[in-house]
Amino acid sequence: LNIETIKWAGDLGGCAELIDQTLLPGEFKILQVRDVKTMWEAIKKLQVRGAPAIGIAAGFGLILGLQEIADDAPLEGAREKLKEVGAYLSSSRPTAVNLFWALERLQKTAQNCKATNTRELKEKLLAEAQVIRDEDAAMCRAIGEHGAPLIGENAGVLTHCNAGGLATADYGTALAVMFRAHEQGRKFSVYADETRPLLQGARLTTWELMQAGIDTTLICDNMAGHLMSQGKINLIITGADRIAANGDTANKIGTYSLAVLAKAHDIPFYIAAPSSTFDLSIPDGSHIPIEQRNPEEVTSFGNKPTAPENVKVYNPAFDVTPHHLITAIITEHGVISPPNLNTIRRMLL
Ligand code: MRU
Repeated sequence: LNIETIKWAGDLGGCAELIDQTLLPGEFKILQVRDVKTMWEAIKKLQVRGAPAIGIAAGFGLILGLQEIADDAPLEGAREKLKEVGAYLSSSRPTAVNLFWALERLQKTAQNCKATNTRELKEKLLAEAQVIRDEDAAMCRAIGEHGAPLIGENAGVLTHCNAGGLATADYGTALAVMFRAHEQGRKFSVYADETRPLLQGARLTTWELMQAGIDTTLICDNMAGHLMSQGKINLIITGADRIAANGDTANKIGTYSLAVLAKAHDIPFYIAAPSSTFDLSIPDGSHIPIEQRNPEEVTSFGNKPTAPENVKVYNPAFDVTPHHLITAIITEHGVISPPNLNTIRRMLL
């Protein structure tokens, strides 16, 4: 299954094209993003989502922002514009570190590329933004390769949210492990948490797994413990939005509960993530900013109110799973087991 979640169409004056994920699975629509404000909104509204995909989107967003400056404008102005657009895109979503990672990488490219004029600077940055996308696709394949042996014959696998091709350049992280095991001919079943409130699991993960021909069962989030107690789950694999230096991991709200349940049932709990999702500048998960989202996401379902008007709502989009609850982290370099300050540094540095 090849999903072109996000790509650049055309040359320097072109635009970004992305699958509008808010419409899936009912409608498959490619959104053409032609300016940086539209990209900011696409990220905010989750038209493009998932940590690696957000990073790629931010990279292309930077190019769109620079299009506002003429090719023959003074280079100093272009560099100023770059900083301004970077700060703007940084304000779209706070938790996934891939967004900041991609923007910083492009700022460094701008500093080191020795462009002599604005057009050249734009060309170098677009090329680098494309490299970020292509590298992500390659990292996902490697994650699949390293993780696939963890899925045994006839296993029951549980996943949460969507860490598939839609959340990355292609192929996914947690789902890459399943795609690869399936390609290798293993028989197994996947249970997908629906992932309230925005249903990434129900709408996106099942859509991807079923297209790949993997046996897929959708469950509500609150059914996971029951399934574990019945012995139906042999391992859990999720993605990540930010992993601190000690292995503490932020992922979609509800991931932490799964890790606690896994511990209680003695089930291995895996995180699959590329090196771009690690934030070695923070010592532990308490430093990860957690995005708070609009209350309406919780008080309505498909635009229909499901709670009294003006009810108080708490709607954090992510939670942090402490590293001691994580059996291993599957990266493009290999499997980090158990994840801690030393094992992570050894694998990544
Ligand atoms: O709010 P979302 O849909 O962007 O949250 C996505 C997740 O939590 C994913 O599990 C994570 O980004 C990993 S994607 C490979």
